[in-house]
Amino acid sequence: MDIFARGKKYLIDVYKRFPLDVDRGEGIYLFDKQGKKYLDFLAGIAVNALGYQHPAVNEAILKQLHRNLHLSNYFLQDIQIALAERLVTISGLSKVFFTNSGTEAIEGLLKLVKKWGNRNQKNEIIAFSGSFHGRSLGALSITMQEKYQKSFEPLLSNIKTVPCNDVQAFESAINDRTLAVFYEGIMGEGGVRPISEELLTAVYRGRERFGYLIITDEIQTGVGRTGTFYYYQKSGFMPDGVATAKGLGGGLPLGAFIVNEELGTILEKGEHGTTYGGNPLACASGLATVEIVSQPEFLRHVTEVGRYLKERLAALSEQYPSIIREIRGEGLMLGMEVNQKAPELMFEACAQGLLFNIAGGNVLRFVPPLIIDKPAADEAAEKLRRAFVNIFGEA
Ligand SMILES: Cc1ncc(COP(=O)(O)O)c(C=O)c1O
Repeated sequence: MDIFARGKKYLIDVYKRFPLDVDRGEGIYLFDKQGKKYLDFLAGIAVNALGYQHPAVNEAILKQLHRNLHLSNYFLQDIQIALAERLVTISGLSKVFFTNSGTEAIEGLLKLVKKWGNRNQKNEIIAFSGSFHGRSLGALSITMQEKYQKSFEPLLSNIKTVPCNDVQAFESAINDRTLAVFYEGIMGEGGVRPISEELLTAVYRGRERFGYLIITDEIQTGVGRTGTFYYYQKSGFMPDGVATAKGLGGGLPLGAFIVNEELGTILEKGEHGTTYGGNPLACASGLATVEIVSQPEFLRHVTEVGRYLKERLAALSEQYPSIIREIRGEGLMLGMEVNQKAPELMFEACAQGLLFNIAGGNVLRFVPPLIIDKPAADEAAEKLRRAFVNIFGEA
């Protein structure tokens, strides 16, 4: 039996997978077992910020491997504290709790804000339609997409959905009972859709009036992906809490929530915890990644190469104006909305040696390793063009 037949036999079948039997990764490329090379603009779903086999990440992992693989949070762990210190400095917030995933970061924040709300007589949480915050029952309760929620209701109560970018609807939804607003600066799974400046301003203005908490989900936008370490740093607004994951572990499972001073003292001993969260191997890999990504010249590189890739995608959209609706996003989190055949384009691009996935039903999403250069952007644009030609004909 080949790997596809064995996968079908032994794994619960919830993923749409590429028809690829991957052997290894190197830099920004994956290689299958026949030795075919793929330019990887999926990057483990926006995880592999420094690509595959980055020497600094590998070295940090090997060094930690020879100290200890796992200790548990019964111990203070130097590597975990070093990473927490970096995240506090970078974010401008005060305290960190480490998790294994993005979903768990959201889940922990939900508990924390609920406890804060119980103290402050507030109980309504606001989330935006099209958002994605994870698939555990708490995180799913604020993931406002019917296709994810419909089989699992009832979910948490007291959640209000506001249509994204509808400032008027947002302003009529908030009141004295509003406990927290959860938002993604750019909705990733929802189709690379940035929240508007007007809505963002309304969210922060509303906090001054009603005193609710603002939690931003930087799981996909964070760790340099949009050209600043966190996306909220572009706006100058300061959230009360941030969820971070994906790129944070440099390829190992690591998430965190980072909160302000007040929220950092809400939970008492025993009220929250995790066996693996902040595992030293993941923190070592994460620290090596964060040290590199947080350098200003690295972030400038992400902005520049992202702008270049966006221009290349825009040039393609001029060739196929009746198919490509819009190019969106910032830095190296870009989306191309098409009005037809998104899955066919994804599989044809894969055959051409370019990997990316689809978000929001009809958006080709590009989240490459942050180390790509302009020639790699050219290579991606050319492979994508060939996929368009093979599906729609020469422009
Ligand atoms: C914005 C956002 N929030 C939360 C999650 C869930 O993170 P994880 O899959 O690490 O649990 C994701 C994952 O795609 C995400 O993009």
